[in-house]
Amino acid sequence: MGNAEEVEVLISKEELDRRVTELAQQISRDYQGKNPLLIGILKGSFVFMSDLIRRLTIDFTVDFMGTSSYGASTQSSGEVRITKDLEDSVAGRDVLLIEDIVDTGLTLRYLLDTLKARQPASLKVCALLDKPARRLVRVPLDYYGFIIPNEFVVGYGLDLEERYRGLPFVGVLKQRK
Ligand code: IMP
Ligand code: MG
Repeated sequence: MGNAEEVEVLISKEELDRRVTELAQQISRDYQGKNPLLIGILKGSFVFMSDLIRRLTIDFTVDFMGTSSYGASTQSSGEVRITKDLEDSVAGRDVLLIEDIVDTGLTLRYLLDTLKARQPASLKVCALLDKPARRLVRVPLDYYGFIIPNEFVVGYGLDLEERYRGLPFVGVLKQRK
């Protein structure tokens, strides 16, 4: 069911709150006078993104892309599939990709290459979580919330087989006895 009792808190609701506010302030400063297109990568980023955009003080528009990678649920295979594409053109726009977590970096690498070919004015990345231990390809993280250890995390939008997305904190599953 995604019960909180099964999950150990790694990043509390208060820490998330504070950091997301800081990120929103930083992004608002950097994009002052611009009208960026924020692209949320489904599904994991939607909770982070909804908190982030409510704290921005600039004009912006939002769109979403869906991706899934073939292979086991807790391991990225590197073969990325676009399950939902953008509704509007990114040509000439200042694009900011919003990701939940960067793990191997393969998803982000694929998205950056795909979007770059569509000729945005600029292309940057904001990820809530950075898990550098398993990185396979180099990706630029222009904005990130927290660097986390090599553990599988859930909550605040992140899932394990579609469970736990609604937890208000980021946590690690407890070992089952
Ligand atoms: P990457 O392509 O290996 O960087 O993985 C990207 C995607 O894998 C993320 O957008 C997540 O959806 C998923 N993912 C990677 N690590 C975790 C985790 O610890 N918890 C939940 N999802 C994860
Ligand atoms: Mg994801």
